[in-house]
Amino acid sequence: MKEKSYRNYYRQRVANQWRKIPAEHGDPSAIRPFLAGNWKMNLIPRAGVALAARIFDLCHDIKDVDMGFAPPFTGLSTLADYIEPDFLQREYGIGRNVFLLAQDTFFESKGAFTGEISADMLAAIGVDRVIVGHSDRRANLGKYFGFSSSVARRLSKDFLTHTLQRLKQRENANPQVLATIEHLIEEKNSDILAGLATFLESELNERAGESDDAIQRKVQAALANGVQVILCCGENREAHLARETFDLLERQLRIGLQGVARHTMSEVIIAYEPIWAIGEGAQPAPLEKIAEVHDFIRNLLMDLYGEQVAARVRILYGGNVKPDNIVAMMQLAGVDGALVGGASLNAVDFAKIIRFGLPNAV
Ligand code: PGA
Repeated sequence: MKEKSYRNYYRQRVANQWRKIPAEHGDPSAIRPFLAGNWKMNLIPRAGVALAARIFDLCHDIKDVDMGFAPPFTGLSTLADYIEPDFLQREYGIGRNVFLLAQDTFFESKGAFTGEISADMLAAIGVDRVIVGHSDRRANLGKYFGFSSSVARRLSKDFLTHTLQRLKQRENANPQVLATIEHLIEEKNSDILAGLATFLESELNERAGESDDAIQRKVQAALANGVQVILCCGENREAHLARETFDLLERQLRIGLQGVARHTMSEVIIAYEPIWAIGEGAQPAPLEKIAEVHDFIRNLLMDLYGEQVAARVRILYGGNVKPDNIVAMMQLAGVDGALVGGASLNAVDFAKIIRFGLPNAV
């Protein structure tokens, strides 16, 4: 399974297995690894620039891999100015391999969507690529925004009794809804009501977030506005333990990529991020699992777009990528880079990840 960690390569499918074939240094048609730092909700704009500057210092000799930085929305403009290619070329001798990433976008182009940012707004300030469907947004919004507790509160007897009185005064109240509420608040059903509240609270806590359909619309909006995409997918611990990973990823990717034409797939990067492997205290997925899942995703892409496209789409791994595990990950035939959270906030660590195995710059 292990190969050398090539910095530029082609990918071939031989006897049903994907392999990396080393390319000449600087070969423009070779596949280039992509190392992306997702800063999440960290760093004010000037701290972001300071971090990027330190990383460029440590990686000024790296020209054969792509690096991306995803500051929060507030940091995008400042970083866009700083990573302007001519400036980076003059100052560090790099430039064309540095990309500005946004952490999210909205699918509508304008209007009454307080707090949202459209893809053409991102394009206008020089964002190259946007992360879509990150698990922080697919799965955790219920927890952050209290969907679960507010639903649970609505399933209390007092709330329902009050609602029933209110609805009964309306002419157009739905009789089915009235009957259901009446049934639920009967004394003999109080245990059912409490159980339902508990069940929904934990379900929403775990699951409420962006739907596959919303994610698909975001992918479409980004590509339509000339912003490339990192489409994230990944399973939670429960699905992992129940061996439902493949079914789930297939659903996420089939829906997320619906409407993306074959010739547009060159603008899409996929990131596999198992939720159980993300964040402080978690362990990265074992190499065998990463290899297996990346192969699965690539074979799915082959089904959707054919072998040529599947061979070239970059598939990143994310979830506790650190300097001490990146080399082994990059040796896997299916891995084309990483989406890095925590370790991307530390210049030395992220520089080591970008260098994956090369000694320090002099
Ligand atoms: P982590 O985050 O590297 O801190 O585990 C990865 C991610 O959420 O993209």
